[in-house]
Amino acid sequence: MSKKKIINTRLTAILEAAPTEDLDRQDYFIKVAKEEVAKRSEAAGRPMTCCVNTFGCQMNARDSEKILGVLEKAGYVESEDEHADFVIYNTCTVRENACNRVYGRLGYLSTLKKKNEFMKIALCGCMMQEEHVREKIHQSYPFVDLVFGTHNIYKFAELLVEMLFSDFQIVEVVEGSNKIVEELPIVRKYSYKSGVNITFGCNNFCSYCIVPYVRGREKSREPKDIIREIEKLASDGVVEVMLLGQNVNSYGKGLADPITFAELLQEVEKIDGIERIRFMTSHPKDLSDELIEVMANSKKICRHLHLPVQSGSSRILKIMNRHYDREHYLNLVKKIREKLPDVALTTDIIVGFPGETEEDFLETLSLVKEVEYDSAFTFIYSKRTGTPAASMPDQVPEDVVKDRFDRLLKEVQEISEKRARAYEGQDATVLVESVNEQDASLVTGRMSNNLLVHFPGDKDLIGKLVDVHLDTCKGFYFLGSRK
Ligand code: SAH
Ligand code: SF4
Ligand code: F3S
Repeated sequence: MSKKKIINTRLTAILEAAPTEDLDRQDYFIKVAKEEVAKRSEAAGRPMTCCVNTFGCQMNARDSEKILGVLEKAGYVESEDEHADFVIYNTCTVRENACNRVYGRLGYLSTLKKKNEFMKIALCGCMMQEEHVREKIHQSYPFVDLVFGTHNIYKFAELLVEMLFSDFQIVEVVEGSNKIVEELPIVRKYSYKSGVNITFGCNNFCSYCIVPYVRGREKSREPKDIIREIEKLASDGVVEVMLLGQNVNSYGKGLADPITFAELLQEVEKIDGIERIRFMTSHPKDLSDELIEVMANSKKICRHLHLPVQSGSSRILKIMNRHYDREHYLNLVKKIREKLPDVALTTDIIVGFPGETEEDFLETLSLVKEVEYDSAFTFIYSKRTGTPAASMPDQVPEDVVKDRFDRLLKEVQEISEKRARAYEGQDATVLVESVNEQDASLVTGRMSNNLLVHFPGDKDLIGKLVDVHLDTCKGFYFLGSRK
């Protein structure tokens, strides 16, 4: 009997004995994994270590916390870097450079694996939902032990067991399911703040964007599950939550008892112990007057709105399938600034979308000047296979895009600095996040409007809300002192 056969007989027996109900089933696989991990630790004479590396957005990061939750329950100890017995890359495919970073590091992982007989490698996340990626991994990176997608993270314990008892590459990717399984174990990266998923997937199909294809259709979590999770976080000492969704403003559609995002926020506001509420991302087409009103009356919702515009040209916005035009966006900004004068507005902008002319670009520049963003993420358009924009004519030449990108960045930076400088000399409450990496006598805190302040203090302040004076503006951050 071949080795593979013996291993698979064991695996078959393990699989046959598994309960069918989701949570019981995953608990069972965690126990099986734990026994195996303990055996391997004994053989190695040290604990088995793991490393989960996140390449994508906040939603991706939250998924990594779920993966780590299962790994720790199975007996793995988190390691500081990729010199570990199990390395997982949670990938992103929103732009090509995110993918290149993964391919670039896989070669390095293979050299580590050659030196460690226990080492296993898994790839998961958005890239793995693409068939051409899976083919490439299979052909060119056969040393990868496990590949899974964005829809089956809830059964990661089961996949882990399959991997531990097999000696060939396991690929498990589900297309388009949006099953939500609550109450899985989670290890939070920060003690005092946490992301909380409110929707999964996206229905918007902006013509440049791969997310709806790799994350599936939009689905909202039940409000009671969200509230229960946040109450639990608050009782664990979390003071700040970030509600996560590709388009939080469409939260609640499709639930048996539909509720709006603004109504959900009001429920979250009532939870004792939660001091700050943030959310990401707001789509301009769905941002309601009700939301602006709720923000204006709230003591906990942070003074920050991330409102991606993508382009200042109505012609381009139409081809991008964004469902708003320049005028609608500018009116929205006007309304927001009237009702929330202290809010920081931030955005995402894409330069070089197919067919973008110099005139279109100048409209983006002029919108940036008019809105005066507190900060903006600027991206060079990246062609994503399978999206409508990938096959559009008039892809803009690289040198033209680069020139526009540089002009935009300069404008954006000048405006951000000017906006930040206006706070110099004022007082602010910050949530302390960490000891400063460069200077250990300082801590770093975040203002409600998302700006960072460094000021004298020690690690005991982490997770505390502290009143500071903003002494000096250093461009995009402040040096401050405690009041
Ligand atoms: N759901 C969020 C954004 C998610 S992706 C929203 O709609 O605002 C984050 C950002 O990546 C987008 O806002 C967009 O600016 C950028 N992006 C998405 N696809 C891109 C592509 N193909 N090329 C360049 N930037 C892209
Ligand atoms: Fe992508 Fe548009 Fe959905 Fe945002 S709203 S994730 S940009 S398709
Ligand atoms: Fe990237 Fe997936 Fe987030 S493609 S931006 S990790 S949803």
